[in-house]
Amino acid sequence: MTMNRRFLLKRRPEGTPVPEDFELVSEPIAEPGEGEIVVRNHYASLDPAQRGWMDDAPSYMPPIALGDPVRATTVGRVHTSNHPDFAVGDWVMGLNALEDYSLAAAGGFTSAIDVSQVESPTQFLSAMGAVGLTAYFGLLEVAKPKPGETLIVSGAAGAVGSVVGQIGKIKGCRTVGIAGGSEKCRKLTERYGYDVAIDYKGKTVDQLAQEIAQAAPQGVDMVFENVGGDVLDAELLNLAKHARIVLCGLISEYNSPEKHGARNLWRVLTQEATLHGYLISAYVDRFAEGGAQMAQWMAQGKLVMDEDVQEGLENAYAAFMRLFSGANTGKLILKIA
Ligand SMILES: NC(=O)c1ccc[n+]([C@@H]2O[C@H](COP(=O)([O-])OP(=O)(O)OC[C@H]3O[C@@H](n4cnc5c(N)ncnc54)[C@H](OP(=O)(O)O)[C@@H]3O)[C@@H](O)[C@H]2O)c1
Repeated sequence: MTMNRRFLLKRRPEGTPVPEDFELVSEPIAEPGEGEIVVRNHYASLDPAQRGWMDDAPSYMPPIALGDPVRATTVGRVHTSNHPDFAVGDWVMGLNALEDYSLAAAGGFTSAIDVSQVESPTQFLSAMGAVGLTAYFGLLEVAKPKPGETLIVSGAAGAVGSVVGQIGKIKGCRTVGIAGGSEKCRKLTERYGYDVAIDYKGKTVDQLAQEIAQAAPQGVDMVFENVGGDVLDAELLNLAKHARIVLCGLISEYNSPEKHGARNLWRVLTQEATLHGYLISAYVDRFAEGGAQMAQWMAQGKLVMDEDVQEGLENAYAAFMRLFSGANTGKLILKIA
């Protein structure tokens, strides 16, 4: 009998997750009930948000229950179907879990995808998926860039950040990217078109603030924040009047029980800036529109999105931790099938 390997959350991580927080088990594949399908997961998205779902803390989604597989967006093919709209073999994507086979209530978060239109089904987890569209809607709908404005992006070499910078250039902005290490900084300017790259590693808030001031002498009009901590503190010291801050993520805090917070918030006040908490879920109804524009920019050679595809459900822990060591080189994806 083919079994279903499942990557379970065994206990809640304290700080940085360790292998013992998880367990890989094998169970029989579920049978779909009325209106349900079983999806053979081919690829799973590995996202910083999953770290938050492992905590038992109030959030925009319920915590992953202990003993459940780690929740993840996946793309795969229908394995068995008890739903008239889904046939065996159809490609689908949905909010499932890190496991070989997921039981899904079709219609819920599961939808059919047309993989004939893309180079690889993984693009539904990167450029055409929620992550690429996080960059798209966060910049265009929240920050609302105008030509000639200066945009600063933290986590700029990552999945969201690399796309934010490129869309910023498409919209005629001056772009400053912050990332960790010389290799990533080289990529920022050479591949993602950033005007200036700043390496944050080993620098104090004051040093970083000075480098940002050199890159943006008039201040930054938009901050696209993915990281938080010292990086955010340095950016806040460089806000232009009426700057817009898109608070997209705070990855530097996700493994820290002690939250750093924003220590230069007074600059939001003095610069009459706007700090906007942003979740991509607010734009789900517009994914088709955003996806079409992303596809067009990619076809025109105006936008690239790199993918970092790691192999094997048995490597889920090591793959996931790449997000926190900075080892990932693009949208982190786990190949399961
Ligand atoms: N609001 C939303 O709806 C939404 C949706 C998707 C993602 N997000 C957020 O967007 C951010 C980026 O997500 P992503 O999927 O694109 O991941 P990613 O940027 O591809 O990968 C994470 C990167 O974060 C950096 N990082 C990790 N730990 C760090 C630390 N302690 N200090 C500074 N930088 C650190 C690393 O880059 P370096 O090597 O440069 O340090 C790492 O490569 C995350 O904060 C995520 O939660 C929000």
